Order: sequence, then structure tokens, then C-alpha cells
Amino acid sequence: MKLLHIDSSITGAASASRKLSAAIVARFRAEYPDLDVTYRDLVSEPLPHVTLAQLPSSHPLSQRDVSASEAEQRESDSTLAQFLAADVVVIGAPTYNFTVSSQLKAWIDRILVPGQTFSYTAQGVQGLARGKRVIVAVTSGADAPPAALEHVETYLRGVFAFIGVQAEFVVAQGLATARSEESLKHAANAANTFSVAAVA
Ligand SMILES: Cc1cc2nc3c(=O)[nH]c(=O)nc-3n(C[C@H](O)[C@H](O)[C@H](O)COP(=O)(O)O)c2cc1C
Repeated sequence: MKLLHIDSSITGAASASRKLSAAIVARFRAEYPDLDVTYRDLVSEPLPHVTLAQLPSSHPLSQRDVSASEAEQRESDSTLAQFLAADVVVIGAPTYNFTVSSQLKAWIDRILVPGQTFSYTAQGVQGLARGKRVIVAVTSGADAPPAALEHVETYLRGVFAFIGVQAEFVVAQGLATARSEESLKHAANAANTFSVAAVA
């Protein structure tokens, strides 16, 4: 079984989302000794903002940029291939200014590709990435934001549903408040008791 582990927090060793994503991955490792884990730190090795030239080569729009070089596309192609190959994807997703980090957004820009992870049909959008588990550890400094500003869990739930995956979430809110410790403990407990069945 292949697991892709993604982190996207800028706070290094102090990061709560990194701790939670690592705890979830550790559970899978314990259950599946032969687990093939690929780790991707989007902060130490960031993907650039997407451009036409940097879209995966399989993206219909990338064909329109005659200046697209192989080297620029190679990283996007391997990012998409890593995602497609994974049975389980575990993502650490901190809240930055009400949404995901720009590093994580740049990764998402490589994996939502028509013909690869979704297609438009006469019946509407069809997700092509079915059969994976995607588990996201979301962290935020504040307690639950007003609905109009909640663009992490809702956004990621929508992104993965669009490609056919019902994402699962472990959430630690209020990490900059007095209940930080309690919140993190609760989330760590959720991460440590997560179902590690290959596909839900
Ligand atoms: C640039 C920046 C922007 C942030 N914006 C928000 C925000 O909009 N809402 C919120 O609740 N917390 C916000 N925070 C706090 C983080 O979500 C919080 O520190 C969380 O623990 C980050 O996850 P991490 O511990 O994995 O880095 C922000 C932190 C940073 C550094």
C-alpha cells in the first residue's frame, strides 16, 4: 500500500499540523509494516505558483504554452503521479488567513487536472480519483471562524469531493487560545484512534 504524506506548515518542529499528520501516518505504519511512504514537505521544497508552463503536461491548457519546458513540467508531472499512485494521502493543513497555505494551494493546482482526476461529462463533473483515502489534519489559532471565513475544511472537503474522494478530517482549533492544550490533546487522540482501513 502506498501512502503520500504532505506537510504544509511554516512553523517547523513547533507545528501542530505536522505533529498530527505524523501521528496519523505512524498509525498506518504500525498497521501495515510494508507501507510505502512518500513524504513531501511543501515548505522546504515548495512548488512555485502555477503557470501555464508549469501545469502538468497532461493538463489540456498546458499544451497551449509553447514556451513550456520539459523541466518545468516534470515536477508537476511527478507531483500528479505521486498523488495518483497513492492509496492513502495524509495532509497537514494549517490555517493561514482563513484558508490553506499557499504552498498547499500550489500542490492542489497540480492535482486537479481534467482527464486525470476529474472530467466534465454530460451528467456533470465526474471524479476520477475514487478509491483513495485522504485524511487531513487541520489546525487553526482561533476557535471556529464564522462560516463566511471558513475556507480550510470546507474548501478541502470540496476539492477532494470534486475528484471523487470523501476526505476525512482531524481538527485542532483554538491553538492560540487558552484552550490550546486541551484542543491539541483532543485532536491527537482523534489522530491516534483513526481507522487505518486502507479505503473507507
Ligand atoms: C501567516 C499566518 C496566518 C494565520 N491566519 C490564521 C487565521 O486566519 N485563522 C486562524 O484561526 N489562525 C491563523 N493562524 C494561526 C495558525 O493557524 C496556527 O498557528 C496553527 O497552529 C498553524 O498550524 P501549525 O501549528 O501546523 O503551523 C495564522 C498563522 C500564521 C503564521
